[in-house]
Amino acid sequence: MTDAPAPVHHAGPLRVALGADHGGVHLKDLLAEHLAGRGVEVVDLGTHGTDRVDYPDYGVAVGHAVASREADLGIAVCGSGIGICMAANKVPGIRAATVHDETSARLARQHNDANVLCLGERLTGIEVAKGAVDSWLDASFEGGRHEGRVAKLDALLVDGGN
Ligand code: RB5
Repeated sequence: MTDAPAPVHHAGPLRVALGADHGGVHLKDLLAEHLAGRGVEVVDLGTHGTDRVDYPDYGVAVGHAVASREADLGIAVCGSGIGICMAANKVPGIRAATVHDETSARLARQHNDANVLCLGERLTGIEVAKGAVDSWLDASFEGGRHEGRVAKLDALLVDGGN
């Protein structure tokens, strides 16, 4: 088993780390405003402009922020939401999910306890993306039959190859 980030139980506002490459920076900035409007404390890990950058650097930064508990949760955005999600999932304890709508976002939390949400700026409209973020934040992990499966997911990162 990995030492997965603990459930959120500190005092104060929820902290969410945001990261994006150049393909996702516009949506990332809009989501930062949206989150601030919800009273969320945003930890913006960049990028901060449209110069080309590499999505693995930002996906792993979001993953590390959550795994180290600098942030409670993370949101990672690239053009498709795919590459940056692959990067975040390389960090032990991270369960990052690419979602495209409110339903997939809600299920990512309820069934998979996703602690990083990944979105694609080039594939998902702004209002849908905001709705997906809200659905994910408002949902809770259901536990029960999902508990052991999520534990197996976390263990795969440690045991793979042994
Ligand atoms: C960048 O052009 C693009 O490849 C990236 O944002 C992402 O879609 C990769 O998965």
